[in-house]
Amino acid sequence: MLIRPRRNRKSEAIRNMVQENVVTVNDLIFPIFITEGNNKKIPVASMPGISRFSLDLLLEEINECIALGIQGFCLFPQYSEEKKDKFATESVNDEGLYLSAIRKIKADFPQICLMTDVAMDPYSSDGHDGLVENGKIVNDKTLEILAKMALAQCRAGADILGPSDMMDGRVGYIREAIDNEGFTDVSIMSYTAKYASAFYGPFRDALDSAPKFGDKKTYQMNPANSREAIIEAELDASEGADFLMVKPALPYLDIIRLLKDNFQQPIAAYNVSGEYAMIKAAAQNGWLDGTKAMNEALLSIKRAGADIILTYFAKEFALQVKSNS
Ligand code: PBG
Repeated sequence: MLIRPRRNRKSEAIRNMVQENVVTVNDLIFPIFITEGNNKKIPVASMPGISRFSLDLLLEEINECIALGIQGFCLFPQYSEEKKDKFATESVNDEGLYLSAIRKIKADFPQICLMTDVAMDPYSSDGHDGLVENGKIVNDKTLEILAKMALAQCRAGADILGPSDMMDGRVGYIREAIDNEGFTDVSIMSYTAKYASAFYGPFRDALDSAPKFGDKKTYQMNPANSREAIIEAELDASEGADFLMVKPALPYLDIIRLLKDNFQQPIAAYNVSGEYAMIKAAAQNGWLDGTKAMNEALLSIKRAGADIILTYFAKEFALQVKSNS
């Protein structure tokens, strides 16, 4: 045998030398949940280690994460049922939970990159990402609502807008609306290939945002399809998206690679709540090593082609890096 691949694995020193991919804290965006009230830290039962924080405690949490080197955060709000209506009106309430939190976070931590969520579901009495009329999700009227929401978030200080709604044409519509108001520096990370996935379950528990009827299959993509992801990516790129995201991550590594090979924009992957919950649950049962599984999962997402990973593991990963250094 002339060629023995095991030679390049014979010691840790050589393995480290030939290692092709590495995950760093710089690659990560930490999704965080805010809830109403004061001095509240309410654990999400299906996401061990993750809580919904009131603003005061969330600021402390962000401060801890910054000390660990995390620079990217994505904020999601949990509203009580009485704040919700058909039109997601609460999403543009400047004094409401979400917009005041964005202002306060950016005032206290101007150096971080704060990503916001553009979609109706946290504020919608229907629990859908778009406007519901006669039992259907209507695209073009939703765009107007999303654009107002996006503008309000820009005014509050968002660095990156994350349209997670999957309406057609929303990236271009939002881009134009915010550019017209002078927010040309605010980025858009489009949820480009967002699949209708069972892996969002724990997130919907966290936000009480599950659809009140039906499912999201008329707007989120069919898990059976990959070529459709190219159609979505071409549209988002041509409409001015700065980043293209694939979501979920682990069951869709092929889609991450597909977009990486075909587009020049940075590719993000959302390692979603259900992916997190699976590893945590197995680790709690002693069925696998949670830390090793976390590292392998994040690395595989990187290897598939993601430049950026949104993950609930961000803090745990950063803590591990710190304790190893
Ligand atoms: C909805 C939204 C969802 C997630 C982020 N934004 C769930 C959904 O589409 O129902 C899921 C994130 C996760 O599961 O971690 N706009």
